[in-house]
Amino acid sequence: MIPGPFTMTIATPAASAPAFASGILRGQPLAAAAQQAVLDEFHREGVAFVRNVLTPAEVKLIVDATDLWIDNPPGPRPKVDNYMGAEVLRYTQSLDRLFCDMLVREPFLSLAEAVLGVDCGFVGQNVIRGKTGGAIARWHVDDFLEFPLPPEIPRHDARMRMPIVWFSFQIALSDIEAPEHGPTQVVRGTHYSGRNVPPLDQLTWEGRGPEHLFCKAGDIYLFNHQLWHQGGPITGTRTRYLMQNQYSKRVCNTRFGLPENGCKLPAEALAGAEPRLMRMLGR
Ligand SMILES: [Fe+2]
Repeated sequence: MIPGPFTMTIATPAASAPAFASGILRGQPLAAAAQQAVLDEFHREGVAFVRNVLTPAEVKLIVDATDLWIDNPPGPRPKVDNYMGAEVLRYTQSLDRLFCDMLVREPFLSLAEAVLGVDCGFVGQNVIRGKTGGAIARWHVDDFLEFPLPPEIPRHDARMRMPIVWFSFQIALSDIEAPEHGPTQVVRGTHYSGRNVPPLDQLTWEGRGPEHLFCKAGDIYLFNHQLWHQGGPITGTRTRYLMQNQYSKRVCNTRFGLPENGCKLPAEALAGAEPRLMRMLGR
């Protein structure tokens, strides 16, 4: 398999795009050719960036809401998991309408529909806040190895596309531009390996080793959780904010969806929501 070239897709400037009442912009789907390039890279590499999606104002809205709900919640205390010092604010779609709007903000939903089908569902939304020393710094694939191979089969055939039943958008809410900022680290292409993460001294795949995913606040990337990956340890003083929008094949959402993956906001908080947001939230 010949890697690259990697896309440098940049979302259409959205400064004049209409906004939801929450202040989150509606955004726009990528142009067809740009979307295809992103999808091709995502399927081949397991990760693909779209740069400059969120505006600074949107980033600030989400960061401020995250800090508020973790530090001084204005309602019932939300679920905050602590993984090795990284705080994970869970079920954010039940906390504030602005988080809901992020599920249908473009280009998230159009890309999710292109990967999973137009009836794709919603299976999770979180914001991870990491401070010095905090990170999910442990190499892993999420949950379990979905497509294992026996030892005598070296890899999945590069001519096929690996099935995707769910995936995440990772959404940078702070500049993560040096190792000390704790960027996600991946070994590209390993969703084709059929293997779990090997010992750290063998952490290469077909000649490719761990890579930092550097990004600026407002950048997003499509992420296949079957890649070997970890959150880089944060050794600097800059707080790292990373949001996740997670979508699935419809069957996963309907058959296995957790009750928490609905939205507990009162009906008035969803007033005026368009039908596709209500469908996404199971309302
Ligand atoms: Fe993970």
